[in-house]
Amino acid sequence: MAEAAEEQPVQQRKNGLYPGVSDELAENMRSGWADTELTDPEPVPQAGHTADRRARLSARFPGERLVIPAGNLKTRSNDTEYRFRSSVEYAYLTGDQTEDGVLVLEPRADGEGHDATLYLLPRSNRENGEFWLDGQGELWVGRRYSLAEAARVYGLPCADVREVEGALRRASGPARVVRSYDAGVEAALRDKVTAERDEELQTFLSEMRLVKDAFEIGELEAACTSTARGFEDVVKVLDKAEATSERYIEGTFFLRARVEGNDVGYGSICAAGPHATTLHWVRNDGAVRSGELLLLDAGVETNTLYTADVTRTLPINGRFDDLQRKIYDAVYEAQEAGIAAVKPGAKYLDFHHAAQRVLATKLVEWGLLDGPVEKVLELGLQRRWTLHGTGHMLGMDVHDCATARRETYADGTLEPGMCLTVEPGLYFQADDLTVPEEYRGIGVRIEDDILVTEDGNRNLSAALPRTSTDVENWMARLKG
Ligand code: GLY
Ligand code: MN
Ligand code: MN
Repeated sequence: MAEAAEEQPVQQRKNGLYPGVSDELAENMRSGWADTELTDPEPVPQAGHTADRRARLSARFPGERLVIPAGNLKTRSNDTEYRFRSSVEYAYLTGDQTEDGVLVLEPRADGEGHDATLYLLPRSNRENGEFWLDGQGELWVGRRYSLAEAARVYGLPCADVREVEGALRRASGPARVVRSYDAGVEAALRDKVTAERDEELQTFLSEMRLVKDAFEIGELEAACTSTARGFEDVVKVLDKAEATSERYIEGTFFLRARVEGNDVGYGSICAAGPHATTLHWVRNDGAVRSGELLLLDAGVETNTLYTADVTRTLPINGRFDDLQRKIYDAVYEAQEAGIAAVKPGAKYLDFHHAAQRVLATKLVEWGLLDGPVEKVLELGLQRRWTLHGTGHMLGMDVHDCATARRETYADGTLEPGMCLTVEPGLYFQADDLTVPEEYRGIGVRIEDDILVTEDGNRNLSAALPRTSTDVENWMARLKG
């Protein structure tokens, strides 16, 4: 019965909106289509790098089957889905981002390394109607690569993804899977994996991404370049934003992100006035008022999924007032100290401590905290207003390498090729009775993306001004 059913034409989309297809129509739809097979499709530019990455992964887990899924579409409502974003582990190892894709590294019988296979949905069958009657048919979702084309594009053998679960179920021997992306693949591996071993795989893949290769650095540069353009776009329309709301700013930046990249790398924080003191203000439905500050934290994600993460705090009318400037300049000084501490051989947390020291010193100078500064830092009292860590690794995830071990990340040492944000801030909540009234509702953050180089660092987002004067001059020029 089951086999016979598989032979049947696919008669309906999932929701049953397309009942009844006559034999005549079905026959008509089978033929009259040109052969569009590409003989020489362009390989993805990172193909050499993905092969190196797979080789490093293979060397770490000899003799074990390694399974890295892209993930599945997530339903938004009824038969509509969220825009798909592949798992970063899959994209990092293959260069592909197709939903339902699965990379399998199969240990070779002689124990030497692995054979990689990329499992993908092939082109739609036009004989059985799948092409136009199935929800994943190419007529609905667009042309896919044939498996032969995909093999050339990604530089590794490809197979039909509808076979992967059966193959994994039948295979014997130890396996590891990257969890939480593909329930079907995980179910097929249930008897062969353990949580602890899968966690080791996840940790290794996160730690592999701590140091970026040349391709990744180029992508981060591109993300920062587009992000700088997006910030300029926003400055140019601040008068329109004043007439509408923070949403205008969000929409303006998003346009740049979608035209030049894949998306924004995280929900844009378009925080005007007192909203700047809410760290993850993404509602973006507030007023934009002259005389207040706009904290804009936004990043373009490239088509290969590398994101920038940049914050500028801008005077909406183009000029900081005295108190805004005092607070802004203090954050700038803290950021300078933080950036200076980013160099190979430094402990990861050095930049955080350097920035916190500057901010604690300012808070004591301003009379908001009793000194000495050493005591303030020891007790962490500055944190009422500095609130968050001073940065994080950046890459395919905005908070990149999140499952790396403490000893390789927070307690680790900086190496050339690492990329991190340096983003100190000061935030005085609107209802904070411990500060003078004029401070309340002011929030300032300055955030840049800093690459560790052989001899220090390079600011990838340096195209955007950082000092208070440079910000004002830049805004004046753009507003013309
Ligand atoms: N945009 C989130 C962050 O800065 O970490
Ligand atoms: Mn950040
Ligand atoms: Mn940010």
